[in-house]
Amino acid sequence: MKKHVVVVLDNIRSTFNVGSVLRTSDGAGVDKLYLCGITPTPDHPKIKKTALGAEDYVKWEHNKNIIEVINKLRKEKYTIVSVEQSDKAVDYKDFEYPNKVAFVFGNEISGVSNYVMEDSDYIVDVEMHGKKNSLNVATTVGIILYK
Ligand SMILES: C[S@@+](CC[C@H](N)C(=O)[O-])C[C@H]1O[C@@H](n2cnc3c(N)ncnc32)[C@H](O)[C@@H]1O
Repeated sequence: MKKHVVVVLDNIRSTFNVGSVLRTSDGAGVDKLYLCGITPTPDHPKIKKTALGAEDYVKWEHNKNIIEVINKLRKEKYTIVSVEQSDKAVDYKDFEYPNKVAFVFGNEISGVSNYVMEDSDYIVDVEMHGKKNSLNVATTVGIILYK
């Protein structure tokens, strides 16, 4: 059965990260990208440099209010999965991915907002084996979408 996957970006600051997420979302067959809060949109010239045209193929919309997006997706029967480090997180390799899933990724410094984490159905994380605490957000998007 085809999976329906949407990606929600919570206050991503970097145009390069958004461009990279657009390109990976196109490759992985994401249905739609929701750019929330301060996340820049594909009309920004710097995004085109990293998206390399993918911005023309991936459906997207911007909404300042991420909770409105989460509520709408929940009504459409999406399971809301925050991708973030947390005591409550399940390892991404062990998680049973639902057929209709919305993945939320967070800001480069502050991560996924606390109120979004609390409103999520599940939290998944990627194990870290080195000295740094976290991965780049666009890299994390690639790991999760291809799993
Ligand atoms: C650089 S991280 C945010 C900062 C991070 N919370 C920290 O304390 O270093 C940006 C985003 O990338 C994703 N991310 C990065 N590393 C991750 C990991 N190991 N597991 C799950 N998500 C991760 C999350 O969506 C996170 O909100």
